[in-house]
Amino acid sequence: MIRLDKYLADMGAGTRTEVKRLIRQGKVTVNGITEKSPDRKIEEGNALVVLEGREISYVQYEYYMLNKPVGVVSARSDKREKTVLDLIERKRRKDLSPVGRLDKDTVGLLLLTNDGALAHRLLSPKKHVDKTYYARVKGFVTEEIVMQFAEGLDIGEGQEERTKPAALRIMRQGDISEIRLTLQEGKYHQVKRMFQAVGMEVLYLKRETFGALTLDDSLAEGEYRRLTNEELELLL
Ligand code: URA
Repeated sequence: MIRLDKYLADMGAGTRTEVKRLIRQGKVTVNGITEKSPDRKIEEGNALVVLEGREISYVQYEYYMLNKPVGVVSARSDKREKTVLDLIERKRRKDLSPVGRLDKDTVGLLLLTNDGALAHRLLSPKKHVDKTYYARVKGFVTEEIVMQFAEGLDIGEGQEERTKPAALRIMRQGDISEIRLTLQEGKYHQVKRMFQAVGMEVLYLKRETFGALTLDDSLAEGEYRRLTNEELELLL
């Protein structure tokens, strides 16, 4: 059971104050009967709620996979910058959030949901959720660097806070090298700082996997889709 004003606000029909006004003005029916009390409790799965002739069905959770493009920030809102949530046009829930962050200039897999328990589990350091990144790096990545990444690095937080063992695979060596890196943690700017610690610079960074999820390669940068039931089952 949920309050009628919350039901409508959750579904993006307006702010809590706006929907209260609409309800009091008699613009909302529940199961065919006009309902003027914002605090009326309704069964979110069963009630037929209509606002000004438009049926408003209820969804509790939404899950989107976004291929994040360069130039948008991983935040719910921002005064100046475009956010990842601005990209999701047909969202039903007003309370979606990105699960974790990618830098403004990082592209790739970002999960967006309002399922706070799932987000918490995926981000908890104790759960060791794998994240795989593809990167192009300035300079020649050697097997010695692979070893250093496997042993853990001081990335400026002191010896106590060294990075956990990380699996670095070299895809191509050259003036610009290509690598894949799997991490089980998510320190701020971690990939960039790990390469900085060995004197190298990340030129391009893309996240390809996040826990059980793999970026759908049919999604161009900036595109998104809902998770499939199979993906959801893997995650939950
Ligand atoms: N590591 C980084 O340096 N940046 C990201 O966006 C993600 C991981």
